[in-house]
Parts: sequence; C-alpha cells; structure tokens
Amino acid sequence: MSFQSLPKVELHLHLEGAAPPAFIRGLAQEKSVDLSGVFNEDGTYAFRDFVHFLSVYEAATQVLTGPEAFARLTHAVLEESAAQGVIYTEAFLSPDFCGGGDVAAWREYLHAIQEAAEATERDSGIVMRGIVTCIRHFGPDQAKRVALCAAETAGDWVTGFGIAGDEMKGKPGDFAYSFDMAREAGLRLTAHAGEWGGPASVRDAIRDLRVERIGHGVRAIEDPVLVEDLAERGIVLEVCPGSNVALGVYPRFDKHPIARLRDAGVKVTVSTDDPPFFHTTMTREYEELARAFGWEDEDFRALNLTALDAAFCDADTRDRLKPKLEPT
Ligand code: HPA
Ligand code: ZN
Repeated sequence: MSFQSLPKVELHLHLEGAAPPAFIRGLAQEKSVDLSGVFNEDGTYAFRDFVHFLSVYEAATQVLTGPEAFARLTHAVLEESAAQGVIYTEAFLSPDFCGGGDVAAWREYLHAIQEAAEATERDSGIVMRGIVTCIRHFGPDQAKRVALCAAETAGDWVTGFGIAGDEMKGKPGDFAYSFDMAREAGLRLTAHAGEWGGPASVRDAIRDLRVERIGHGVRAIEDPVLVEDLAERGIVLEVCPGSNVALGVYPRFDKHPIARLRDAGVKVTVSTDDPPFFHTTMTREYEELARAFGWEDEDFRALNLTALDAAFCDADTRDRLKPKLEPT
C-alpha cells in the first residue's frame, strides 16, 4: 500500500538540506554561481561520505543568498512535504547560512521564511515551526552568535534550538553556554548525537546540553543501560532511517535499530533529515519500514502521535493538529 496520504508529523528536517537539486541549479544559473562538484551527471547531489556530504551541502547553500531565496526555498520544501502527507514539520534553520550569525540580518531572513511558511499553510494546510541550529564544526564561539540569534527571535514560531554538523568535532559540553542561553530564552532543546558518535555521545548531549530530544541517537542501541535510561526518561529520538542507510551507518533498513529501540520502550519518531540528498521522502521512509519490520498504519499512527507530543509547538497548535491523526 502507499503511505503517501497517511497524515505525518516530521521533527527532523534541515531546510537547506531539503532543497531539490533542480531548485539549487536554477538559483545557481540566476546568480551565476559555479557549483561544479555539487551534482552527479544525473543531476543528484554528489557525495562520498558524511564529511563530504557536509561540504557539498555547504557548497549548495552558496546560492541561497538573501531572504528572498530562503522564502522560495521554504515554499518549495513545504509544498513537497505537504505532497507527502506531512501536516506538521519542524525545520532546522541555520543563521550561519542566513547572514552569518548577525542578529539584524537573521531577523530579515527569518521574516521571509516565516512569511513563506504562513502563505504555504494557507494553501496546503501544512504547519511549520523553526528550530534554530548551530553548526558544530563552526565551533563554540560561532555557536554563541547563533544562540543569540535564536534567543532574540524565540517565540511562538522559533520554538527550539539545536546543534547539527560534524558530530566528531569537539564535545557537547563545548556548546553548553549556547544551550543555556537558548534554554533561558524559553527555547526547547535537541542535539544531533549517536549517529557517528557511539552511546557516550548521547549521554554527553543529555548531561551537558540538557536536551529533551536527540537527533538520530540510534547508536544508543549499543548500550542496553542507555536504552533503558532513554525509555525511563522519555527522551525522544528523531530517527532518520533512510539517512542512516544512505550514509552507511547501517547497511539496510532491516538492519536499522529503530524497531529494537521502539520495542525497548524508547520514544522513536521518523523523519527524512535531508530528503533529496538521501533519495528519500516521508512516504518512502514508511514504505521501507513497512517492508523491513511489517509496520502498519496503526504503528505509524502511534509514531506520529509520539512525534506530535514531542513537537516544540504550543498546546493550541498541538490540539488543532491531533484530530488529523485520527484513523479515518
Ligand atoms: N547531520 C548533521 N548535520 C547536518 C545534517 C545531517 O544530516 N544535515 C545538515 N547538517
Ligand atoms: Zn540531521
């Protein structure tokens, strides 16, 4: 069966990482930017491994100059998500690519992104919220600038703060100051961990950054005591199985630990991460999980209820969306 029309909640999507390759090529042409090395001959994004992925990703963002480009990107990404049945999406937004961490510039980019999101919600019904995200390999000082951008724009729409980028650079504790600033501004917290780092990276993120959700976190499976701890504390994992398979963290969907984590009582959710890079969509994720683990509509409904409960939106938004997850 196709899961396309099943209503879905997505918690882990990098806005720039969701840019369709044709969209980036179109902007490159408009702006006369040379993107050689970014694409394969068949037009898909070209990368060899995770670190190379990050550099191709950053190269592609060179064409996203100015708030208008981000408004168009937001519209394109949300239209595609809505077509995949997504009713609510939380996207990682990077002030690093939106004015370099300058608060005044960030406000202009954010205004454009939010306006595009609200226009798309009026057309397609999809609801978006933003998680401002620092980039680990840009270092703790730059992260403080990004955290200030987040704190200055925290509210009903920018509702979270996170960290992405190269998980093997530095330690979570190096970013504690930024996470403290974000927490004090009322933002809810998530961190990428346990994708490239082992179980210790997940423990460190929880202890040092005091996050309530973990981006990926799947390598927690290597430590049964940690798995139990995640279940007990109700820490939510933003699991992106197709991303993990595409980047070689696991060889195939049926080797992915998401089912074992779920069965151990860990709150798991499903997202796409950077869908065109990883040749995936929310529909494909569900299809692959159904094939690998025999999951059915009811399993996915439970995942989506977990995701909505863990969403960084206000109670009114949650209450408005919940009936859409009811079985029809
Ligand atoms: N992982 C870590 N950092 C990232 C990613 C990702 O998938 N996408 C964009 N930044
Ligand atoms: Zn990610």
